[in-house]
Amino acid sequence: MERTKINVVLKLEKTPGDIFIKGWIRTKRNAKEFSFMEINDGSCLNNIQVVANNDLANYADIEKLTTGSSAEISGQLIESPGKGQKWEIQATQIDIISVAPDDYPLQKKRHSDEFLRTIAHLRPRTNKYGAVFRIRSEMAYAVHKFYKKKGFRYLTAPLITGSDCEGAGEMFRVTSLDPKSVKKQGKMDFTQDFFGQETNLTVSGQLSGEMFALALGDVYTFGPTFRAENSNTSRHVAEFWMLEPEMAFCDLSGNMDHGEELVKTLTQHALKECQDDMNLFSNFVDKSLPKLFDTILNSDFIRLTYTEAIDILQKAKTKFDYKVEYGIDLQSEHERYLAEKHFKRPVFLTDYPKQIKPFYMRMNDDGKTVAAVDLLVPRIGELIGGSQREERLNVLESRMDEMKLPKKDYWWYLDSRRFGSVPHSGFGMGFERFLMMITGIKNIRDVIPFPRTPGSIDF
Ligand code: 4AD
Ligand code: MG
Repeated sequence: MERTKINVVLKLEKTPGDIFIKGWIRTKRNAKEFSFMEINDGSCLNNIQVVANNDLANYADIEKLTTGSSAEISGQLIESPGKGQKWEIQATQIDIISVAPDDYPLQKKRHSDEFLRTIAHLRPRTNKYGAVFRIRSEMAYAVHKFYKKKGFRYLTAPLITGSDCEGAGEMFRVTSLDPKSVKKQGKMDFTQDFFGQETNLTVSGQLSGEMFALALGDVYTFGPTFRAENSNTSRHVAEFWMLEPEMAFCDLSGNMDHGEELVKTLTQHALKECQDDMNLFSNFVDKSLPKLFDTILNSDFIRLTYTEAIDILQKAKTKFDYKVEYGIDLQSEHERYLAEKHFKRPVFLTDYPKQIKPFYMRMNDDGKTVAAVDLLVPRIGELIGGSQREERLNVLESRMDEMKLPKKDYWWYLDSRRFGSVPHSGFGMGFERFLMMITGIKNIRDVIPFPRTPGSIDF
């Protein structure tokens, strides 16, 4: 008989009779004539209760089954007389696959997130982390579904690159040189390296995205991104996933329309397709989530300029750790104040001073600011960062000169402005930050399977 997954069992409307499942024992209780077991197979949050009578041939072994053990169960699916569940399985045969010893760390008690991080290989077996990673999987699908429906093409940008898109220099080096011979020579000779030049892991697929947007129209990349920023915060990891749409014939306001539609659609999808898992977070992690979802789905996101935001922040009664003045790079405390306290909903901030933004952003007519946009959301701060791109060759070149960027390395990028250049825009959304927003999880390390952070590369 074919095995049924528990999420399918629980969706059944009427008693199907024979059933065969496989899973892990979450809890077990021995009574006089039978043993109750809660089985979970990872397919959903819910367990299914299995009742094993003492007339089963291997009952002596069944009685000794421990939390974390695995088994195959055949039996009858029946309506449960007990409270709290609709169905239970009356076992006719239980084959034990593997018995977990007593030092299985996930015994039935609440464990702290910090402790569970130290056993990241086992934490997806808990209710909360099972839910996180089922939602993560579903949301990756939702991204592709959204873009398929909108007619975007999926671009797989290279992960190894010779250019620094963001110009922040926070890159991991890729090399095949032998550290011993480098040490002997006293320097790295990149001409001897695999690619014959300095090479890094990508910090953004944007530049590739732009080339393909100017060919295929609307594209998106969705994949891993690497940053060697040494910031041990609850919102940064060294390896994360970024979604980067890039749209030809699109200006800054079209870019914001797109970002708003994306965030609303993904949120809606999570609520509809991951109901049980999402409820866990609203009930046990952050009770204010339903209100946030209501604002995301039913109100327009705020749009205001950086300059206006500075004014609001300077008038704020709150005391910030970092002083607010025109020209600063906003800190997370400022971003959160705007989204969380002042507007109480997502806020698009536009038109930042050119000094704090990368070379590719479109220069505004004032000559001081660029057509940048960040989306700030409650609890997280920056969720999205993007811009309209500079499509005018002469303006782009003088900006690169100003920033002392080697134009010859970007010859191909400049080509796109020489041949059929058009206004275009895009942004990057941190996938983990989005997951933090919809689950209420406070630390980015807890929405990524095996987090990579400064000094930590376990698992
Ligand atoms: O604002 P960022 O640096 O923008 C770019 O890289 C642009 N090239 C994107 C584009 O226009 N195509 O990064 C985009 C988003 C941030 O808003 C944040 O959500 C996320 O990526 N992010 C990180 N997430 C986790 N850990 C980190 N270290 C992150 N750095 C950025
Ligand atoms: Mg940014």
